[in-house]
Amino acid sequence: MTPIQETILNKKTKNTPIWLMRQAGRYLPEFREIRKINPDFINLCLNENLSSEITLQPLKRFELDAAIIFSDILMLPYGLNQKVEFKKDFGPQLGPLSLDEISKVDEVGFIEKLYPIYKSIKKVSENNLIKNKNLIGFVGAPWTLLVYMINKHSPKKELIKDFFKDKFLIEKILPILEKFLKIHINQQIKNGATVIQIFDSWAGLLDEKDLPNYIYTPTQNLVEYVKSLNIPVICFPRGIKNYKNYCDIVEPDAVNIDYEVDPISICREIKIPVQGGLDPKVLLTDINNLKKQTLKYLDVFKDHPYIFNLGHGVLPETNPDMVDYLVKMVKDY
Ligand code: CP3
Repeated sequence: MTPIQETILNKKTKNTPIWLMRQAGRYLPEFREIRKINPDFINLCLNENLSSEITLQPLKRFELDAAIIFSDILMLPYGLNQKVEFKKDFGPQLGPLSLDEISKVDEVGFIEKLYPIYKSIKKVSENNLIKNKNLIGFVGAPWTLLVYMINKHSPKKELIKDFFKDKFLIEKILPILEKFLKIHINQQIKNGATVIQIFDSWAGLLDEKDLPNYIYTPTQNLVEYVKSLNIPVICFPRGIKNYKNYCDIVEPDAVNIDYEVDPISICREIKIPVQGGLDPKVLLTDINNLKKQTLKYLDVFKDHPYIFNLGHGVLPETNPDMVDYLVKMVKDY
């Protein structure tokens, strides 16, 4: 069993396992090299040779316990034939959302369109570098995907004013998302993903009263589905006010926390294994501060099943030497 699997089963491990969200990305010169000659991000995700190589890049440098497949949560709306582009210095930009178009997509067509992602997962899973480690597949939670599909770009701090105007559309889209998210999860697992992480990056935008409809129930359905396939599932409801309620209702195998929440109260309140927390901006400071902040998390969770990770993705400005230091420090703790 891998250290991450042991931790998720609530067991004590000799060392705290570690992987980092966005561990394969722009802070690595070897990634920027590939990116420079591949200006189209979607095509890069759909190039199984390059995306598998990028996935493995951080494992060649650091003693990480997992690789996360180089892809994006927005490959799902792409698979549903909504236009998705990644614009330099802007981020994702989606095209019009048409219920008619999306309703026409069938399972075969969807899998065909995203097929290179599954082949890439297969390639990584067969590589020696992943032996005794986990390969993390992932999806966006239905709510966060809905946010991008309706909003068309990052909501930054708030939703557009008329977000909920077309309730009919939202009610029709959610079950379609659920259906294709399950297909996407199943294909990733079939091809070698050994853990699934569900990213709900915009969970923090909703009021308490809307959580059951848009977050709890749709995510719970996916969590149950992953569990039925005997694969552990980690949820990351970034910015949610009450992690305890979320865990009690959604029941993931582990929960990733953001850097706004107090790890001490999380450790006290939450019984399931915890992942993450450290503010990625700490990696932009100095070794002393990195040491201090990392120790804070390691100390708080020393008697709790804990997977080290960040409270959001590695920032592009990060010096890889700082990541190296962090990984070594966690391993030596
Ligand atoms: O973590 C990893 O290393 C695996 C790959 C991964 C990417 N996106 C690659 C990516 C994962 C797990 C994601 C998830 C993702 N994508 C989320 C959830 C996590 C989070 O960040 O909250 C979200 C909301 C997206 C949507 C998305 N994709 C945005 C908002 C952006 C632009 C912002 C940015 O960081 O550039 C992307 C682009 C993106 N996804 C890049 C990468 C490496 C940058 C592409 C580039 O090189 O220009």
